Order: sequence, then C-alpha cells, then structure tokens
Amino acid sequence: MHRRFSRPPLPPIEWAPAAQNRTLGDDEVHLWCASLDQPATEREFLAETLSPDERERAARFHFEEDQHRFAVGRGVLRMILGAYLNQPANALAFSYGRRGKPSLSSAPGLQFNLAHSAGLALYAITSHREVGVDVEVIRPLSDLKRIAQRFFSSNETAQLLALPEAEHEEAFFNCWTRKEAYLKATGEGITAPLDQFEVSLIPGEPAALLANHANPREVTEWSMFHLRPAPGCVGALAIKSRRVRVQCWQWRPGKAA
Ligand SMILES: CC(C)(COP(=O)(O)OP(=O)(O)OC[C@H]1O[C@@H](n2cnc3c(N)ncnc32)[C@H](O)[C@@H]1OP(=O)(O)O)[C@@H](O)C(=O)NCCC(=O)NCCS
Repeated sequence: MHRRFSRPPLPPIEWAPAAQNRTLGDDEVHLWCASLDQPATEREFLAETLSPDERERAARFHFEEDQHRFAVGRGVLRMILGAYLNQPANALAFSYGRRGKPSLSSAPGLQFNLAHSAGLALYAITSHREVGVDVEVIRPLSDLKRIAQRFFSSNETAQLLALPEAEHEEAFFNCWTRKEAYLKATGEGITAPLDQFEVSLIPGEPAALLANHANPREVTEWSMFHLRPAPGCVGALAIKSRRVRVQCWQWRPGKAA
C-alpha cells in the first residue's frame, strides 16, 4: 500500500524579469522561460541568427506556426548562450550527441538544455555538469493509465493510480517531465527504458530521483526540481549535482542580448 504524505504545497519558484548580470556561479543553474510566439519583427531578428542547418530544419515543418516557433526557440537559445559567452548569437556553432543532444564544442564547460511545449520554451544553463529540462502543458490524456502502465515503473504506476482521479493528470506529467529531464540530461532521450529508474510524482511533494536500478549511486548524485514556468504547465529540471542554486528568469526580447 502506498502511503500519501501530507505536506504543505511547495512555494512556487519565482520567474523574475531578466537579470542584467549574466555571471554563472559554480554552484548555479540558470533557468529561462520564453514565449515562442514573438511579434514578427522580433521573430525575424531571431531567425537571422540561425545557421543554415537550423533554417533547413525550420523550413521542414509543415505548419508556419511550427516553423516560427522552432526559429524563435533556437534564436532565443543563441541569444541566451551568446550573452553568457559574450559572443554574437549567430557566431555559435552547435554539435550534437549520438541521440541529438545539442552542445557547444567551442565552450564545452557551458552545459545547457532546452524544452518546449505549445508556445513556451524552457532553457537550463549551468557549468560542468549534466543538465536536462522538460516542460509539458497539463492536459487530459484519454490513455493516461495505459501509458503509465506501459512506460512507468510498477511503483510509479501504483502511486499514480492510488491518487484521487482529479490528481492523475498533474501526477502523470510530474512523472513524465522528471523522467524526460533526467534522460535529456544524460543525452539518452526517451530511447532509454523509462522504468529502469524511479522519480517522485505526487503533487505537492518535492521532485526527486528515487531509484536507478542499473546504477543505484545516481540517486546520491542528482537533484531534481519541480517547475511551474506558466499556469497550466509543469516542468522539471534534472542536474548532476547535489548542491545547486536555481535561479529562474523570464526572457524578453531585447533584454537577453
Ligand atoms: C530528446 C527528446 C526526449 C525530446 O523530446 P520532445 O518532448 O520532443 O522535445 P522537448 O521539447 O522535450 O525537447 C526538445 C529539445 O531537446 C533537445 N534535444 C534533442 N535531443 C536531445 C537528447 N538526446 N538529449 C537531450 N536533449 C535533446 C533539443 O534542443 C530539442 O529542441 P530543438 O531541437 O528545438 O533545439 C526526444 O527527441 C528523444 O528521445 N530523442 C532521442 C532519440 C532520437 O529520436 N534521436 C534521433 C535524433 S539523433
């Protein structure tokens, strides 16, 4: 039987307006959230910073909205990273891991990851440690139980299904985003089995990596954070560090350059 701990809800992390000081402390991870739906002038400015392969990727999207959102997502990533590195956004050259994780070979110490859902993007920036983020709009899923049974561990599925029905969606997306953030941090993506490690999922309880069956030590090496970058969205940050300070900012056009 899975016991429900009653704890007060966690205080929301504040997403402050963009900081002027772009110094990344050794123990820090900086999170940025941005709207992918920018006015045309800003969108065009950001699209100008993209490399030829990114422009090709943008052009491959069927719908214009998706083309714009991809271009803005990459443009904002370039603006944010460029500000940390004191380099122009269009000068950055990304490399890709075996499963597609982007990195900067010219600045391998600056680690980052990004995620998007609908019109919202989330960026995590840190130094010298693996980091992953995910974000999802909390939405009804007709096959929620089937997906949980198929992909989550038996403990996670049991915890989820023991919750009142009204909490199922939030708990499901807590679990999903934490798992995905972890696998994005390692670079494996969701090609790796999702039931080989366990995360917390109960709404209001802290995000945590609870078990890794293949590598139990990981539990003592990683931290997870629950994120609420916008109403109706849930996000997760996974970082290979036990002592880390999280700072959250909203990216605004013209403020992050
Ligand atoms: C990484 C992955 C979980 C992303 O899932 P998603 O829900 O569609 O997308 P998210 O919004 O969470 O994240 C997308 C971002 O993750 C980053 N990303 C891509 N692959 C990644 C990986 N293996 N690890 C970490 N981050 C990755 C990219 O920056 C991408 O955004 P962008 O291309 O617009 O810059 C999924 O694509 C995956 O499992 N990929 C690995 C396996 C694969 O299909 N590889 C084929 C390409 S080599």
